[in-house]
Amino acid sequence: MAKQIDPKNVVGRDDLITQIWRQLQKPPEQGSLRFTAERRIGKTTVMTKMAAEPMDGFDLLFLEVEGIESPDRFTGLLLNRAKPLLPGHEKAKSSFDDFWVAIGGTELGGIIKLPEKSKLGWQATLEKTIEGLCQHRPDNIVLLMFDELPYMLQKIAATTKADGDQHEALTILDTLRSLRQRHVNLRMIFASSVGLHHVLRGLKQTSLASEPVNNMPLIEIHPLEVEHALRLANHLLAAEQLTFTGDDQDLIPERLMLLADRVPFYMERIAGELGLLGRPISLQDVNSTVQRQLTSDRDPWEMDHFRDRIDIYYHGSVPDANGQSISKAQVARHALDHFAVTDEPQTIDQVWGVIRSQLPLADRQVIVQLLKSLGQDHYLTCDTEKRYSFRFPLIQQWWKMAQGLG
Ligand SMILES: Nc1ncnc2c1ncn2[C@@H]1O[C@H](COP(=O)(O)OP(=O)(O)O)[C@@H](O)[C@H]1O
Ligand SMILES: [Mg+2]
Repeated sequence: MAKQIDPKNVVGRDDLITQIWRQLQKPPEQGSLRFTAERRIGKTTVMTKMAAEPMDGFDLLFLEVEGIESPDRFTGLLLNRAKPLLPGHEKAKSSFDDFWVAIGGTELGGIIKLPEKSKLGWQATLEKTIEGLCQHRPDNIVLLMFDELPYMLQKIAATTKADGDQHEALTILDTLRSLRQRHVNLRMIFASSVGLHHVLRGLKQTSLASEPVNNMPLIEIHPLEVEHALRLANHLLAAEQLTFTGDDQDLIPERLMLLADRVPFYMERIAGELGLLGRPISLQDVNSTVQRQLTSDRDPWEMDHFRDRIDIYYHGSVPDANGQSISKAQVARHALDHFAVTDEPQTIDQVWGVIRSQLPLADRQVIVQLLKSLGQDHYLTCDTEKRYSFRFPLIQQWWKMAQGLG
């Protein structure tokens, strides 16, 4: 995760956060949410701002679960973070005493450590912890925010596979869902850069049919609005103590924001690079700095991530017209190569025509499904006439150069 900024310096998310708080106060069955956005758009920043400035009536826990690889560690993290909100466990007698004894954890320096194999089992511990949170202050809403949950589920699925039990990741999701149904004052936010649909598909191949998140409305987090992005650009340039030169120097903040697609992360990086030049900067410096970062084989912005993950996201193959098979990843790369060099939004038929001229595909449906997946995975966006194009011009530009397409 990127280093987080002071919530007071977060630009342009006030309306979104107001809308989120409103949504969280809806009835329980609509009140839990999923945040989706390409990485670096600012999901974690929205959540840390909410955690730092919670709305009255909410008890809120923000949990970064990306690195967690077992259900016991997940429960342990939740328990420790929930501790200050649970009924006074230090007191000699409380209704919660039995629970603290039952989980068999030990407390050292204020941190509860669960035994290797928890006496109660992770599922019961999870249920009991959340029940404790919800019952302790029944008039408040308990909000649990899980950042990058799909990464955790993938890790758990990968490690438990070796033990012969593939379902633990899915059991976590199902348990969280039944807890949401049981407690009227419980809400959750799941945030993810990688689509939960990829993880669920992988799990369901061998597992029970479960729809653990279909009752959690999806909130798409977008790049900043122009007005806010411009404010951030001016702020970042001023923070680098940059001075400007050239006839068109007034355009510098706007150019910075446009080339970064109004994504704060890239805006910060560009401003940082400009700062290193150690001289007054021109509009041309902004262009050439971005160009240098995008073409460098050191890949300072880790753009190769967008190419590497194609094989992971689109694994498997489809039959071709000759009775052979073609990998889905290969079809996806061909499609993105086409979008990279095309400035006009493309209909499904246009893409089908182009791909069919390059690969011996027989089934148009493959392209229909692929475009849908590329849309869900934030590579593409589609307009109301169902025409697709790259979602982010910055990534389009990188893809075009990285693939040597001119
Ligand atoms: N609204 C914002 N205002 C200012 N800076 C932001 C904003 N959102 C994100 N950033 C900057 O971009 C970085 C990456 O954002 P982050 O929230 O970690 O993205 P994500 O969680 O979607 O990957 C942050 O560490 C912060 O420096
Ligand atoms: Mg994040």
